[in-house]
Amino acid sequence: MNQDQLKREAALRALQYVPKGAILGVGTGSTVNFFIDGLAAIKDQIPGTVSSSVKSTERLLALGIKVLELNEVLAAGQPIPLYVDGADEANDRLELIKGGGGALTREKIIAQAAGQFICIVDQSKCVPVLGRFPLPVEVVPMAEQMVAAQLRALGAEARLRSGFITDNGNIILDAHGLRIEDARALETLINQWPGVVTVGLFAHRPADRLIIASPEGVREQAGAAAARAG
Ligand code: 5RP
Repeated sequence: MNQDQLKREAALRALQYVPKGAILGVGTGSTVNFFIDGLAAIKDQIPGTVSSSVKSTERLLALGIKVLELNEVLAAGQPIPLYVDGADEANDRLELIKGGGGALTREKIIAQAAGQFICIVDQSKCVPVLGRFPLPVEVVPMAEQMVAAQLRALGAEARLRSGFITDNGNIILDAHGLRIEDARALETLINQWPGVVTVGLFAHRPADRLIIASPEGVREQAGAAAARAG
């Protein structure tokens, strides 16, 4: 099986968790695209979605799946019981690096708003220590040099993602060469630098469940909270 087939397997497994009659949070990326395509078959059961990127919104709408604004959903007091998204890396604590597709800020917002976060990956994304994948940081353009210097002071090589502007009008700095032993501490640190919109570490709000596809089959790992709930 190639990587795309594995991504598809993980995405299809997540479909079984989609609650009927509830607003669904939808992430961004090639793995999520398989999930969105699978949603088309059950779209009558989904009153609407909230989307983490323009790209996902376009794909959802093209399949006739309704997309709502997060603010209107929350203002109406409607819950978002589930958010499904991919990741660039995941560790055993279900802490993630995300933002390879540049949608990290909206992804983090919806992950925070949702009751449960299911992350869908192929096995190549699972690592003992985060950081092999360059850590994306969304930055307000005028802070580029300042934030790059701060990332260098942490031992990273900060590279501007060339020709890329986020859906929020910002730039991405990719921090190469970090070995992230304490993801929560690093998330807290980088997030409080002026000019940083979001760092692509999902450690304070990790996934609740990881669905991992490998050539041996699809397995699942529950995070601490999900495991306690059974
Ligand atoms: C986008 C993301 C994606 O979830 C991440 O990059 C994984 O993408 P893919 O499923 O294409 O491997 O965080 O911002």
